[in-house]
Amino acid sequence: MAALPYIVGNWKMNGTRGMLNEARAIDRSAARFPKVQVAIAPPATLLYRTREAVEFIGVGGQDCHAYDSGAYTGDISAVMLKDTGADFTIVGHSERREYHAESDEEVRVKAEAALSAGLAVILCVGETEAQRDAGDAEAVVGSQLEGSCPRTEGAVEKLSVAYEPVWAIGTGRVPSVEDVAAMHKSIRAKLVAIYGDAGAEVRILYGGSVKAENASELLGIADVGGALVGGASLSAESFLAIVGAA
Ligand code: G3P
Repeated sequence: MAALPYIVGNWKMNGTRGMLNEARAIDRSAARFPKVQVAIAPPATLLYRTREAVEFIGVGGQDCHAYDSGAYTGDISAVMLKDTGADFTIVGHSERREYHAESDEEVRVKAEAALSAGLAVILCVGETEAQRDAGDAEAVVGSQLEGSCPRTEGAVEKLSVAYEPVWAIGTGRVPSVEDVAAMHKSIRAKLVAIYGDAGAEVRILYGGSVKAENASELLGIADVGGALVGGASLSAESFLAIVGAA
């Protein structure tokens, strides 16, 4: 049975308690779309309250530490995310890779920590504009997958991959349908190389300037199993328009 399209809102470092109203509105309306799996990743400070406020949608973190506990001031472990009621966490977002210098190996260890805490994982990969211009996009993403895909027993069953070209994030620019299709095909081949047949079942999301206006087209591309949405997930209205398009 084909998996439902998965539409995930990544709120990034946005949102205080007032945003719980958006979470509630998303939740209420998501119940009207039983053929779409909907989730949001609010900032960690809102996770617990969001979990309490919603009933139908998934709730997740945006990152986790590789260790379960310890002297790591300011960090949050996967065990702690799980304790708030989170269902999943994002790891390896390009903003973490860039601003926190996270290597593929660190991302892999974080993904494995999340899985062992009982969370599902959305693993982000994506090339920069310079890498695409140099013709290296598929090689870069392939090597990110090789280095950062979790390898623990059963990992593949709770894994989604989000392809987010760095140059498309928050810019309003989106790759062509052909480029998205080619990249998702190449990601699929890599997942099958890593996980065998089970790699064929992993959902591959697209992220980067997804909006109501382009959602249907993007979600109609072969092997695009959903979307990871930033800016447009911050209002229930624009996020739900994307859910509706799925
Ligand atoms: O993780 C989602 C993301 O990086 C895309 O952001 O604002 O371009 O939808 P945005």
